[in-house]
Amino acid sequence: MRQTFTKVVIIGTGYVGLTTGVCLAYLGNQVACVDSNAAVIRQLRQGEVPVAEPGIAALMQQNPANLYFTTALAEVLNGSDIVIIAVGTPAKPNGATDMSYLEAVAREIGAHLTDGKKQLIVNKSTVPVGSARRVKTIIDYMLLERGIDCEYSVAANPEFLQEGAAVFNTLYPDRIVVGAEDEAAVGLLHQLYSPVLNQTFTPPAHLPRPRNYQLPAFITTNPASAELIKYASNAFLATKISFINEIAGLAEKVGADIKEVALGVGLDTRVGRRYLEAGIGWGGSCFGKDLKSIINDAGQYGYSMNVLQAALEANTRQRYVVIEKLQQELKVIRGSIIGILGLAFKPGTADLRDAPSVDIIAKLLELGARVKVYDPLAMPAFQEQHGELEVEYCQDVLTLSKNCDALILVTEWSEFSAVPWETAGAGMRRRVFIDGRNLFDARTLQIHGFAYHGIGRS
Ligand SMILES: NC(=O)c1ccc[n+]([C@@H]2O[C@H](COP(=O)([O-])OP(=O)(O)OC[C@H]3O[C@@H](n4cnc5c(N)ncnc54)[C@H](O)[C@@H]3O)[C@@H](O)[C@H]2O)c1
Repeated sequence: MRQTFTKVVIIGTGYVGLTTGVCLAYLGNQVACVDSNAAVIRQLRQGEVPVAEPGIAALMQQNPANLYFTTALAEVLNGSDIVIIAVGTPAKPNGATDMSYLEAVAREIGAHLTDGKKQLIVNKSTVPVGSARRVKTIIDYMLLERGIDCEYSVAANPEFLQEGAAVFNTLYPDRIVVGAEDEAAVGLLHQLYSPVLNQTFTPPAHLPRPRNYQLPAFITTNPASAELIKYASNAFLATKISFINEIAGLAEKVGADIKEVALGVGLDTRVGRRYLEAGIGWGGSCFGKDLKSIINDAGQYGYSMNVLQAALEANTRQRYVVIEKLQQELKVIRGSIIGILGLAFKPGTADLRDAPSVDIIAKLLELGARVKVYDPLAMPAFQEQHGELEVEYCQDVLTLSKNCDALILVTEWSEFSAVPWETAGAGMRRRVFIDGRNLFDARTLQIHGFAYHGIGRS
């Protein structure tokens, strides 16, 4: 472990902020995590992790002395070298990014910086191009109003972690992107990330360094390019998924198997195999909102992003493909009992933001079905956030399948692979299985008498 450490303040202790804070503390820095939600800070002070993210709790326990949790930014701001902003930037109904949390943070920083303070402010939230400048303008005005002079700069340092693998992605990233106008900012961030860039830290026991891991690139650019890199990355990944889903639709019509098609396409190193899995499409807090945001921003320049617009529309349509398959099989959905396997937008998380399960369940209820659900992690969150959707919560797959006419697999939790399908099927009224994630080979279910439908598999 290196000797020098940086005093870091992280604002926002959600998936990104907490993961970043806990990892930076593990790497030997002194980290103060600030969140305006007092309940979250109370939980963190008691050693509880408010987000369902594997590996965070173990790291938190290893370095309690390097971590401090508070709701009061003023208490920790001026003692720090770097402030990292990681608050939410949700989409507004028109697709534009809601900047209110970020702007509130900028105002708070401007209200508390002390005269003569040197400070690097880093924006890790995903934000439209120009946001680093926007944050600087807000702080400049606040300082001017207060008659205060500070030597500070604002850098962009977008985050690429994936929920469910957030700690792993932070310790073993593909690249670190820094957009800054001054060299001092780049130097400070290079120093902060040097244990990751050079992999000089001792890996946590539960997260060993992957074999063949290549040192990550450190990409330095201007803030606008860094901000656009984040949007372009997410837009590309989302488009890749929509692309393979569109091919899956054709595969069904022409008698091809999308798994084999995707393999044949993805083994081309120019394409790559990841994010080329057909299913009910993407969900989660990022892809949908980031796509809408970039399309909306482009619109402000009179520029239309036709490919991204199509990717978004294809994804919306894809969610209802499982309902069409159900209608083909059951004919009438009204009065049937449908079991939903998985609610979270992906395995390993309880996150329901833009989860396909919500749209699918709402549609089934609208069509007159009775809906039973099971998810190993996300049921409490679903109950809290979507109480308007009247569903029956089940404690396991066997309880879920009882009396069902059909099951729809929405989230590919690995435990679903270990279900005794013969037993599950025995309790059902009809054995129909719609595999929205292509988790199974058809035969695995067919041998137990199920009518099996995957996505893009004739
Ligand atoms: N979740 C991901 O997988 C992911 C990945 C990459 C980038 N991002 C981006 O990172 C940002 C954060 O995402 P997240 O998923 O961690 O969000 P989150 O909603 O999980 O967490 C945001 C936190 O910020 C806190 N907050 C809001 N306003 C605050 C304020 N004024 N002061 C202090 N705390 C405040 C909230 O209470 C909340 O705990 C977003 O811009 C997102 O697009 C997210």
